[in-house]
Amino acid sequence: MHFQWYPGHMTKAKRMMEENIKLIDLIIELVDARVPLSSRNPEIDSLGKNKFRLVLLNKSDLADERYNEAWMAYFKEKGYFVVKVNARNGNGVKQVNSAVMEVCKEKIERDRKRGILNRPVRAMVVGIPNVGKSTFINSFAGKACTKTGNKPGVTKGKQWIKLNKNVELLDTPGILWPKFEDQTVGLRLAFIGSIKDEILNVEELALELIDFLKKNYAGVLAKRYELEEVENNTEVLTQIAQNRGCVAKGDEVDYAKASILLMDDFRSGRLGRITLEFPTKEE
Ligand code: G4P
Repeated sequence: MHFQWYPGHMTKAKRMMEENIKLIDLIIELVDARVPLSSRNPEIDSLGKNKFRLVLLNKSDLADERYNEAWMAYFKEKGYFVVKVNARNGNGVKQVNSAVMEVCKEKIERDRKRGILNRPVRAMVVGIPNVGKSTFINSFAGKACTKTGNKPGVTKGKQWIKLNKNVELLDTPGILWPKFEDQTVGLRLAFIGSIKDEILNVEELALELIDFLKKNYAGVLAKRYELEEVENNTEVLTQIAQNRGCVAKGDEVDYAKASILLMDDFRSGRLGRITLEFPTKEE
């Protein structure tokens, strides 16, 4: 399987990011808790140098809690503020507020030393497509949001959401382009549904997921589909199809249907909380 993101998209996303990053003090970077490194674009580090940084492990409700903790420790050790959140139901969003306030304190102090008073912290949410940026902005800004109009000068044409007297958030998130140089990264992004399934071979994807689950979450498939986790992955997919009535014309096994069912079950958390990427010492 080969994955790619279109170069045109990348150039546009990068240009927007460079333009908007000039306007802000704090980058709130969303990553997917199931694949925290694969869902990042490492270029954000150079694009965002000299900015305050906050990493959010979003969709933490879908990821394995043991690894959520491990990934929190990983990012903290690298010097980031990090909070685990569920943007969909708002869990963790309060802690984001406290983390932003911490950043504010540092910034107010820095400004004060330079003789600047009462300038709010400006923040922007960034992340790859589908990581939950819009959902997060909605739950973070919540009811408190008052949109400020265009401001003269640098902020022309930008909409800011005033969160409180100290913090303003750019209302449009920055889109980071996924990085597919390593095909394992592409595969992980395909698993979580960040790459449109129409351009993928969904059966191949399902077989790869079966392989991963058998090795790392033994018993999960057996329990959900009442099957035997045999060595041959196609055989496992056949069992899923048979047990879930995925049959095509002439009583043939409908592999495509079974594959879609499996991918949907995984992505919506019906297989349980599963992390696809684990922190290692070298990374
Ligand atoms: P984006 O702006 O970064 O592209 O992502 P967006 O907010 O559109 O979110 C993409 C999908 O991820 C949405 O689901 C959203 O509900 C879901 N999502 C966001 N944050 C979380 C989270 O913390 N946990 C879980 N479980 N899901 C989350 P969708 O199916 O596309 O839409 P909908 O069914 O929610 O309407």
